[in-house]
Amino acid sequence: MQVIKTPAEMQMWSRSQGMTGLKIGLVPTMGFLHEGHLSLVRQARELCDAVVVSIFVNPIQFGEGEDFDQYPRDLSRDFALLEKEGADVAFAPEVRDMYPEKMSTFVEITSMDDKLCGRSRPGHFRGVATVVSKLFNICQPQMGFFGQKDAQQAIIIEKMVRDLNFPLEIVVGEIIREADGLAMSSRNVYLSPADRKNAVVLYQSLLKAKDLVADGVNRPAEIIKAITDLINQTPGAVIDYVEILSGRDLSEIEEIKGKVLLALAVKFGNTRLIDNLLLEV
Ligand code: PAJ
Repeated sequence: MQVIKTPAEMQMWSRSQGMTGLKIGLVPTMGFLHEGHLSLVRQARELCDAVVVSIFVNPIQFGEGEDFDQYPRDLSRDFALLEKEGADVAFAPEVRDMYPEKMSTFVEITSMDDKLCGRSRPGHFRGVATVVSKLFNICQPQMGFFGQKDAQQAIIIEKMVRDLNFPLEIVVGEIIREADGLAMSSRNVYLSPADRKNAVVLYQSLLKAKDLVADGVNRPAEIIKAITDLINQTPGAVIDYVEILSGRDLSEIEEIKGKVLLALAVKFGNTRLIDNLLLEV
């Protein structure tokens, strides 16, 4: 596996691969890789000729007071994991190379960015859309791989690709979980042992919602109430949001019908965890 550090070198590599007609798959990450990331690498391996994994903790998607400085980083461990998965390139640029001068150009999302995570993280999705656009231009993939774990991010990136005619296809991979059901996340390492145990309530809430829907409950408010009660009974858990929206465009829905997204964000101490369930009813 090749490690490439600068956008210029990366772009040169992508161009040369593109000329030989090889299909490039890009898996954008912020590193501290876990099975969730690696499942995307495996999908890329299957569907593409060459796999590029970017590792970049993107400062412009972190708000004031968020965990940019503390975000866990371990590049040598990440490189070893990617080598084992058969990735072709790890692209790990420095902040000064991705943002060598003050940015004047951003990709602005004008809908869906004020919902769910956008509400408590203003500017977050603008930062994500901008860096993902840069990564698409630098790595020139024919396919981009994103996880359902970040449902809102996946929906926004798919919309951005359609709106701006990025010449690539987005693949969304399923949520990979720990044995007890907690969705894997680089941020799980922040949790105290007690909070780690209690954090399983996110997954239990999704299962409860699934059961209620199977029993014929079709009013979002009823499901939200049941889940809110369950989370509020859990020591240390503080709800940021529990919402049921359209799984297509995050619009409000009156009834559980069609493609429906149940999304949760819950804080344990300073650690904010997210999880979701996409239902086809
Ligand atoms: P990061 O949080 O590192 O996640 C990278 C990719 O892995 C995202 O597409 C995310 O949805 C996916 N992922 C994370 N946990 C997962 C899990 N448990 N199961 C399946 N997929 C999972 O998301 C980002 O980085 C950044 O916002 C990024 C897109 C790289 C832009 O900076």
